[in-house]
Amino acid sequence: MKITHYGQNSLSIEIGSQTIIVDPFITQNELSKDKVDIMQLKADYIFLTHAHFDHILDAEAIAKNTGATIVSNFEIYKYYDEKGLDAMPMNHGGSRTFDFGKVKYVNAIHTSSFPDGSYGGNPGGFVFSAEGKTIYISGDTALTMDMKLLPLQFEIDLAILPIGDVVTMGINDAVLASDFVGCNRVLGVHYDALPFTKINHEEAKQTFKKVGKELILLEVGETMSV
Ligand code: NI
Ligand code: MN
Repeated sequence: MKITHYGQNSLSIEIGSQTIIVDPFITQNELSKDKVDIMQLKADYIFLTHAHFDHILDAEAIAKNTGATIVSNFEIYKYYDEKGLDAMPMNHGGSRTFDFGKVKYVNAIHTSSFPDGSYGGNPGGFVFSAEGKTIYISGDTALTMDMKLLPLQFEIDLAILPIGDVVTMGINDAVLASDFVGCNRVLGVHYDALPFTKINHEEAKQTFKKVGKELILLEVGETMSV
């Protein structure tokens, strides 16, 4: 799996010939809007963790441009299905098999409403299993005991966790979350894009390093392999 970070929780995951976009928020993100042209992004699927603007903003435009299928909880599925876009539902605790691998929609502690105020269902995260690797994308969440369920079922190779604090976990809770999910390799997301989530990158990396863990912070457009 090849993972590219586009800022906030926006990711592109390449698995074989398939490309999955997660939580696209680019055109109003000061850190990525001049670096990433959403019309150049490839997408077979767009996975959305929840309905907040900083996760769904560019989903419709990318879906229309690429014909990608939007995947999320039932309420978000319905929202896009009613707009005539290709969408398929999942919900908490459910797994679904795709041509690239298997995905489970798992619990998150957060809120979820669309920018127009309509209900976005409960927020979630995704566990992607493909090519013998497993990645956990927590989405926006607090530290939660539910994370302890994951290592009972998965061996996670990379945990993608929010670290920006204020509206999600901060660094210290993300360290605990990595214990809970049984994965010492963390890709940090959901920092710097909002004025109140600016973090000190070096301090954040050191906090993980001190306890024998690795925190990876990618530049916008930078890619890593799992
Ligand atoms: Ni959110
Ligand atoms: Mn968010």
